[in-house]
Amino acid sequence: MKRAVIPPEETARQRAYEQKILALRQGGLAHVVTYGCQQNVADSQQLRGMLAAMGFGFTDDPAQADLVLLNTCAIRDNAEQKVYGALGRLTHIKERRPDLLVCLCGCMAQQERVAEKVRRSYRLVDLVFGPQALWRFPELLYEVLTKKGRVFSIENERGAIAEGAPVVRDSAVKAWVSIMYGCNNFCSYCIVPYVRGRERSRSPEDILAEVEGLVRDGYKEITLLGQNVNSYGKDLETPLDFAGLLAQIDQIDGDFWLRFMTNHPKDTGDRLFAVMAKSRHIAPQLHLPVQSGSDRVLRAMNRGYTRASYLEKVRALREKIPQVVLTSDIIIGFPGETEAEAMETISLVEEVGYDALFTFIYSPRPGTPAAEMPDPVSREEKQVWFQRLLDAQNRFSAQRHAAYVGRKVPILVDGLSGDEAWPLSARTPGGRLVHLQGPAEAVGRFAQADIVDSNTWALFGHL
Ligand code: SAH
Ligand code: SF4
Ligand code: F3S
Repeated sequence: MKRAVIPPEETARQRAYEQKILALRQGGLAHVVTYGCQQNVADSQQLRGMLAAMGFGFTDDPAQADLVLLNTCAIRDNAEQKVYGALGRLTHIKERRPDLLVCLCGCMAQQERVAEKVRRSYRLVDLVFGPQALWRFPELLYEVLTKKGRVFSIENERGAIAEGAPVVRDSAVKAWVSIMYGCNNFCSYCIVPYVRGRERSRSPEDILAEVEGLVRDGYKEITLLGQNVNSYGKDLETPLDFAGLLAQIDQIDGDFWLRFMTNHPKDTGDRLFAVMAKSRHIAPQLHLPVQSGSDRVLRAMNRGYTRASYLEKVRALREKIPQVVLTSDIIIGFPGETEAEAMETISLVEEVGYDALFTFIYSPRPGTPAAEMPDPVSREEKQVWFQRLLDAQNRFSAQRHAAYVGRKVPILVDGLSGDEAWPLSARTPGGRLVHLQGPAEAVGRFAQADIVDSNTWALFGHL
């Protein structure tokens, strides 16, 4: 399958629309809200870049804004409910200020069922577009401004690669770089493949140029993003896999840490671990979502690996990188999961000993196969299993973190925390959060911290 790349003339046309809007409006303030995962955070950087090119400044206060842009997430029902709540609150602002522009984009917006609801019940929304139309935001907004009507652009496409959009990043220390878009895995519970289109990889040249630029600009932590970074490159004409891409990025000189997410266990393996083990920049950290510890549930989820093959990969990884920090995502209460199967997940969690977990109760997503499966267990019962999982993990995370106390660890100071007692925030190489005492000038620097305390979620230390 050949990669669909948006031709440069098309992206240039979008830059021209930015200039037209700039001439039309002479400025204004935009309020951008990002829900969901890092992919959306990276998309919002581009959306803000386009808005800046159109002459917008930015505000945290929707009441001050001339344009509100909600970049939404559809992964679970509560993610969608948050957005409807925000739209409800905006209704009052728009009643007072009818010329407020309200735009809805992101994964939720790509679904016909959501667009229909917005069409009927949320008349305040002027523009709706999905992730696959993101690169055309300037043109779509221009249409709203000149047509004086609502615009919906949610055609479901395979998706393409668009380069060259301006970017406004929210940190001067940490940067996100999308290396691929979409997902082909169709895990049976997951909406992402339906809203983000098919897997497509950016060219290695574009990625290397972006990372080199970031390092030159002084960024110290660069995170490569994709729904499944391990399938990077499958659609490239010149063969290059993710391990190969990492090895090339690792050659870039400079002082920076390289992270990446998310990894799919079925595609992760020795080649990747070998590159990580001998790299200069790659942080000793792997987010390797297992979802379940039961083979029957893994099969029903369409995950493509077994408990045993997962555990074998963890063993191989730790053999190569003993100090690796390992994290995972877990779903409790997949349709038809029994109590015994949920306990298999907890036993896997105990067997692996993760540094931290992201845990979710299954939420049916209309249009996915799992949403059609019988789901006889009550929410209350799932909640009990979920709590057992949390208790097991929290105990272990607390122990893991306690083992840092009294040690000196390398850190990157990545920002101000706003907390007087621990004014700085920092990360260890493995990505654990450190609440830190030290001067504000330390932000953006690599340093050593004395760890003096810890809890389940974080470490505490001074420079
Ligand atoms: N591409 C990444 C994850 C994307 S979504 C991966 O494959 O790991 C992030 C996490 O949300 C998933 O790992 C899963 O644990 C959770 N998730 C996805 N769909 C869900 C659903 N319908 N209900 C509950 N959790 C879900
Ligand atoms: Fe969803 Fe699975 Fe794709 Fe991750 S790999 S985005 S969980 S379908
Ligand atoms: Fe949500 Fe879309 Fe990310 S559904 S988790 S924002 S890819």
